[in-house]
Amino acid sequence: MARVALCATGSVAAYRVPDLARALTSDGHEVRIVASRSALRFVGEDALSFSSNAGPPVLELTGKAEHVEVSEWCDVALMAPATLNSIAKVVHGTCDTPPTLTFVAALGAGKRCLVAPAMSGSMYASPPCREALNRLREWNVEVVEPVLEEGKAKLAPLESIVAAVRAGLEGRKVVVTGGPTQEPIDDVRVITNPSSGRTAAEICRELKARGAEVTLVKGPVNIDAPADDVVEVVTTEEMLNAVKEATKDADCLVMCAAPSDFKPKRKVPGKVPSDSELTLELEPTPKIVEEVFPEFEGLKVAFKTDPNPVEGARRLADRVPVDLIVANPPEVMGAEEGRWWILDGNGEVLRTVEGGKRTLAAELCDLIEGRLGG
Ligand SMILES: Cc1cc2nc3c(=O)[nH]c(=O)nc-3n(C[C@H](O)[C@H](O)[C@H](O)COP(=O)(O)O)c2cc1C
Repeated sequence: MARVALCATGSVAAYRVPDLARALTSDGHEVRIVASRSALRFVGEDALSFSSNAGPPVLELTGKAEHVEVSEWCDVALMAPATLNSIAKVVHGTCDTPPTLTFVAALGAGKRCLVAPAMSGSMYASPPCREALNRLREWNVEVVEPVLEEGKAKLAPLESIVAAVRAGLEGRKVVVTGGPTQEPIDDVRVITNPSSGRTAAEICRELKARGAEVTLVKGPVNIDAPADDVVEVVTTEEMLNAVKEATKDADCLVMCAAPSDFKPKRKVPGKVPSDSELTLELEPTPKIVEEVFPEFEGLKVAFKTDPNPVEGARRLADRVPVDLIVANPPEVMGAEEGRWWILDGNGEVLRTVEGGKRTLAAELCDLIEGRLGG
């Protein structure tokens, strides 16, 4: 496992650094903590000494040049939590604190570098933050994306940060589908559903954090999802074709889109007048899972929305070859939080997850990594 220089900066989330260090240690890593003065406002020196298992924490810049020793020793430099202040300093080569100096030195030494930002939502959305993170990505610094909720960009779950350091899905290509599809009634009206695409976005975030190459096949919805390739589609048929194309060389397909199940039998050209009744005749659209899964040789992950989620998932498992099914009741669609059951292809419940969609993504990706990783 790796030698990790854990560079902690002055976010309120710094109080979690001892837990993060312990989680990294339990995962088999050696950890040396490097902290800024601001970080020490949120976490005590003794707690950092106790959890820095590979040597004393570096809390000052002294004549001993500890940053040189740590940046040469480490395999991975992880800035967590990363303040906007320190992220911006790294981008500009301002090295006036132990974590910024160590991180920049590690970057220069060609070490693997990750940042896990934590800050207010408005700071995270600000142009300097966007630009600084993009610059870091250009330098191959991996960004362990925060959880965006309650107006905050909260530090990613500790398991996600540990998984990112482990990079268990490196070299694996995963295709994720997300969002709704739209079926045209006429030129201006569509049949669709309230899928927000947020689950797909969180799954992409989690897969990227674990080193996977991610292709997102996305229906017409505006989501901020980190992916190497985004294929935009509108109708269910377009999604089917895009999935067939994208999965040709993929190791895993996660079907979490909510494609429209029906479409009007014929699209009316122009705009149907709105002053009289309209009866639509609908026909089913292609079932993407049923068409693609039997042919696809990689890991097959389906989502099933059903008022009786576990029974619905088991019925799906009886019909199509599938490795994992995430089942949820209909009210989860478009919501911030929810309850999910993750079943294997035999219909056995492996995990029950309650909470935000990032939590679901972390749990699901643990199972995907267990099956694909190594
Ligand atoms: C109570 C409090 C909480 C803060 N939380 C954050 C935070 O979560 N993220 C952030 O980027 N800055 C936060 N700051 C601002 C940083 O502490 C400040 O920019 C500091 O100079 C960072 O120093 P460092 O990057 O060297 O650790 C907070 C400040 C205070 C007083």
